[in-house]
Amino acid sequence: MPTRKVTVATLAGLKDRDEKAVFVTAYDYPTATFADRAGVDMILVGDSAAMTMLGLPSTLQIGMAEMLVFIRAVTRAAQRAFVIGDLPFLSYQPSDETAIRSAGAFVAAGCDAVKCEGGARVARRVRAMVDAGIAVMGHLGLTPQSLGQLGGYRVQGKSLAAAERLLRDAEALERAGVFSILLEAVPAETAAFVRERTGVLVYGIGAGPHVDGQLVISHDLLGNFVGEIAPKFVKRYAEVGSAVEGAFRDYARDVRAGVFPGPEHCYPLDPADEALIRTARKTRPARRLPSRPTPAVEAAP
Ligand code: KIV
Repeated sequence: MPTRKVTVATLAGLKDRDEKAVFVTAYDYPTATFADRAGVDMILVGDSAAMTMLGLPSTLQIGMAEMLVFIRAVTRAAQRAFVIGDLPFLSYQPSDETAIRSAGAFVAAGCDAVKCEGGARVARRVRAMVDAGIAVMGHLGLTPQSLGQLGGYRVQGKSLAAAERLLRDAEALERAGVFSILLEAVPAETAAFVRERTGVLVYGIGAGPHVDGQLVISHDLLGNFVGEIAPKFVKRYAEVGSAVEGAFRDYARDVRAGVFPGPEHCYPLDPADEALIRTARKTRPARRLPSRPTPAVEAAP
């Protein structure tokens, strides 16, 4: 039986039944395949790929071209999960047309929806994308594309006034037509306050349990992030990074010790052919290869 793809209606159904949506990031074909097989409902191809996949210092350094490579790999893998493409910095802010073109390129590459950061100030762009027929997820709270304005990776919505500002932004996004809002790095009480007053699906990453589903960056969950950022809200479910490093160390040890490849890794020969080749090895002169490459060009006198 073909797998039924998760849609916005499926996600609304989960909320109606008080079931949480499971949401992770993925950027490559194998990870997205494993997440999809595991029954994850939503995959975000986040601009966090800048740090997780490319070793860049922040999300500000990744552009549409790189994001599209990751998006195509993930959408090829996702049979069931709803795939959201994260619009990178300056791919939607400059104009409605830029926003529609960028979001349209993600949808053409197989995304079910796009995500953009900001509240009231991006509401016009959201409306333009929604009017073009594109499902849009908003992103409020800690919005890494505005890190300069926020003063770093800081928890947001820590006072009633800040919670009310978040709510006003959520309302602006809802009026602009988003199907959902992602809250990042806000206290659980603030997230509950916003969600209880918002008519769209509200997901959280570091926003506590009172939301419609949980997002975690897969590298944080799997333990293969190379870098310094270690959010408090992450629970680690594997140590993939150390497992991979250990496997490379074991391989290096075996190669250096001459243990790999063993007979079981070699192609067999018909015994008669093997005997002929073995004899030829012994009887025909072998070419002596230099142990060190000789310089192709003589040094000038
Ligand atoms: O890029 C990303 O992975 C994100 C999450 C941190 C919310 O935007």
